[in-house]
Amino acid sequence: MTWQPGLPVHGAPAWVVVLDAEGGLPAAAKEAGERLGVDLGRLLEAQLATGFSPAAGATVAYPLLTGEASEVVLVGAGDGSAKDLRHAGAAIARFGRGKDELTTVVAEGIDDAALRAFAEGVILGSFSYTLKTVDPGEPAVGQVAVTDGTDGTDGARQQVLDRGVVIGRTGWLARQLAITPSNAKDPAWLAARATEVAAATGLEVTVWDEKKLAADGFGGILAVGRGSTRPPRFVRLDYVPAGATKNTPYVVLVGKGITYDTGGLSLKPREGMVSMKRDMTGGGSVIATMSALRELGANVRVTGLVCAAENMPSGTAYRPDDVIRHFGGRTTEVKNTDAEGRLVLADGLAYAVQELKPDVLVDIATLTGAIKVSLGAMLYGGLFATDDALADNLADAGRVSGEELWRMPLPAEYEDLISTPIADSVNSSKGPGSITAALFLKAFAGDIPWAHLDLSSIAESPADRFEYSIGATGAGARLLTTWLTSETPTAGI
Ligand code: BES
Ligand code: MN
Ligand code: ZN
Repeated sequence: MTWQPGLPVHGAPAWVVVLDAEGGLPAAAKEAGERLGVDLGRLLEAQLATGFSPAAGATVAYPLLTGEASEVVLVGAGDGSAKDLRHAGAAIARFGRGKDELTTVVAEGIDDAALRAFAEGVILGSFSYTLKTVDPGEPAVGQVAVTDGTDGTDGARQQVLDRGVVIGRTGWLARQLAITPSNAKDPAWLAARATEVAAATGLEVTVWDEKKLAADGFGGILAVGRGSTRPPRFVRLDYVPAGATKNTPYVVLVGKGITYDTGGLSLKPREGMVSMKRDMTGGGSVIATMSALRELGANVRVTGLVCAAENMPSGTAYRPDDVIRHFGGRTTEVKNTDAEGRLVLADGLAYAVQELKPDVLVDIATLTGAIKVSLGAMLYGGLFATDDALADNLADAGRVSGEELWRMPLPAEYEDLISTPIADSVNSSKGPGSITAALFLKAFAGDIPWAHLDLSSIAESPADRFEYSIGATGAGARLLTTWLTSETPTAGI
């Protein structure tokens, strides 16, 4: 995407006019209308009179018979907020499918947050994925030029667009990883994608295979992966900012990377299994987030850990009643092999605490179905935290990125629910499922300020809706990238 000073000299075949926060035309629309040979004011009036509403992402296209473009489209920008501009950007991307180029006129002085969100929307709305032998979709729009008609050429606006494009791309990558079917995607495949990202973006990468996992005592990841013919992996990606000192804050991310979740011997019912290819969304989002840190100049040290396994039932699978020993020695009595996410994350968290000693620890997972009951679908992901400043910083990043979070409690009173005489805790119990899962993980985070993101509620979109396409959303990548590239992600912690 390019920021275009003034109105472009060579018009694109299709022009887009993004309405302002009041549903009116942007200042540059007058000149644009002259160039296109159409009175945009009258066009908008006529459309409003026949039921067009300038809600975010609403579009109406109008063919042109004279002038330099063959089509103009009006797009609503709702109240002009970043969220609404993201929706508008996604709508434009859908309109632009199959087109080489679009010129987009936006409100004069549109603020940076809105412009960045607009760029994110254009990238995300361009997403498609199909393995059909005849691709029914049209290719993503080739070029999008954005202008508010003014002559500013200082490059600052281009930088804002570029940032939006990179953040949009993290969402794209996370979505692509999550939407890939599990006959193509196993733990080794996920590790290979992480290794590619590391090579392309200057990160260090370390991959544990099943032998190394056994040698180092990763009992949770090994237990969950034991039923599959495709062995588990643990992946570590390291980002160190240029000019880092010993005072540079250090954040560790831990992602659930279950490349397929059948439930294991505690087998899921057949309807519940469908879509479990995306049970590695947390791990995929960690990989996607790591891919953007160098380009966006994040000023914190970050290690991304991915706990990857395939949860299958078989003669070699782990069982209910087994007791497993996690990295570092804590034990868990398995009561349900379908509560596998917490078992692999526990190893990752324990590894981070013991070997990396970060200032902040955040895990991200499609951990429970219960969070969908608590928060519904597609509005909020669940946020649990032992530190209020960390919770606030993440919630802020949620609002900015459009991947919003709702904070949930971590009451010590419920810890009894996961106790057992046999081991340090059980992995599944009666009661509030998302909270007990979070309490289980909390024990592995030690004294380090810790947050847990349970994103099952926003990991799948029921339809093509705004910046989401149907199916896997790759939730969390934009949120984490926005947080880690904010000015002070660890402020107050
Ligand atoms: N991967 C699932 C959680 C999930 C469910 C994500 C639906 C997205 C949609 C997780 O591993 C799981 O199976 N959790 C169980 C936990 C229970 C056995 C304690 C659940 O939520 O039912
Ligand atoms: Mn499960
Ligand atoms: Zn799972």
